Amino acid sequence: MNFTRTTLACALAFGAVAAHAQTTGKLKVGLMLPATGTFASLGTAIENGFRLYVAEQGGKLAGREIEFFKVDDESDPSKAVDNASKLVKRDNVDVLVGTVHSGVAMAMAKVARDNKTLLIVPNAGADAVTGPMCGETIFRSSFSNWQPGYAMGEVMAKRGLKNVVTITWKYAAGDESVRGFKEAFEKGGGKVVKELSLPFPNVEFQALLTEIAAARPDAVYTFFAGGGAVKFVKDYAAAGLKDKIPLYGAGFITDGTLEAQGDSANGMFTSLHYADSLNTPRDNAFRLAYAKSYKLQADVYAVQGYDAAQMLAVGLDAVKGDVSKKAEFAAALRKARIDSPRGPFTISASHNPVQDIYLRQVGGKENKFVSIASKALADPGRGCRMQ
Ligand code: PHB
Repeated sequence: MNFTRTTLACALAFGAVAAHAQTTGKLKVGLMLPATGTFASLGTAIENGFRLYVAEQGGKLAGREIEFFKVDDESDPSKAVDNASKLVKRDNVDVLVGTVHSGVAMAMAKVARDNKTLLIVPNAGADAVTGPMCGETIFRSSFSNWQPGYAMGEVMAKRGLKNVVTITWKYAAGDESVRGFKEAFEKGGGKVVKELSLPFPNVEFQALLTEIAAARPDAVYTFFAGGGAVKFVKDYAAAGLKDKIPLYGAGFITDGTLEAQGDSANGMFTSLHYADSLNTPRDNAFRLAYAKSYKLQADVYAVQGYDAAQMLAVGLDAVKGDVSKKAEFAAALRKARIDSPRGPFTISASHNPVQDIYLRQVGGKENKFVSIASKALADPGRGCRMQ
């Protein structure tokens, strides 16, 4: 037997199998989401939304069955590189999907960049992910922290509010939401007179509420989410501030939380790329399917998970399931119009949704659509050099 020829034949056969494996067989999706802690329910909604879209496609995207690998990221940035690396290196996932917390998402973006792995961020708004850390394989189906903050700054300035106190968790999402708000609010003639914060995920708000009462601003702008948002809104009302100093926020403060907040949230105005009463055929169908599948009401997190799967499908269809074709995958998404329950959106050059930001008002158990606060708002993508 001719050794060289056999070796060559084997190598070719192996190559064929390897190439083949890129387009057929199961597509491995690594879900890195919080299953514990203040953001646990947000992680569940994202996963539900993602799975709903896949189920609607018969369990396959671009002809490939989906196999899930899961990690609870605990919303803990200090464990994030290890957690993401496990999915990429141990489980060999084709695509990472995650997460909720901005600090964790920035670590995921680093891992995705270093390994040239596809990453779709289905919530975390860290501006850097589609800014200085942007990359050919990194996409977001949600928002940048700047977007809802900026839109609310415009709304509140137009309402003639002058002096505002901000309050949030001290980490990327809180800081950037307040920064976006402040940029637009001060451009519109308002002034942020005090910026209050506490470490994530603390919920001892009492001392800060006393400071707000003493400062007597025209209004308060806030970013909290999940379990922390529930407690903040209840504490704000219990401190007697609700009827004295109107509380505004990025819409996460009342999304997926109204059941638990009850009356304490009633009447609040917030800004977000989703609302409960859009009443479009697309959103109604989505909400019905979601409620049937999970016995839960859809919220913004469910939509972002659903759209992460839609974005993956658009990219995969363009490369016929071959995830090694990164440039073609990205080019398809940059041209796409995603038919989201929130309303259609496109994807910017830095891979963040360009989308309408709605003004909503809490009425009963719903974040009711009031108006479009900002039409087709694009994150500036500051610092992004696509590579
Ligand atoms: C974030 O950390 O970026 C974050 C977390 C929860 C939200 C929104 C943003 O609801």
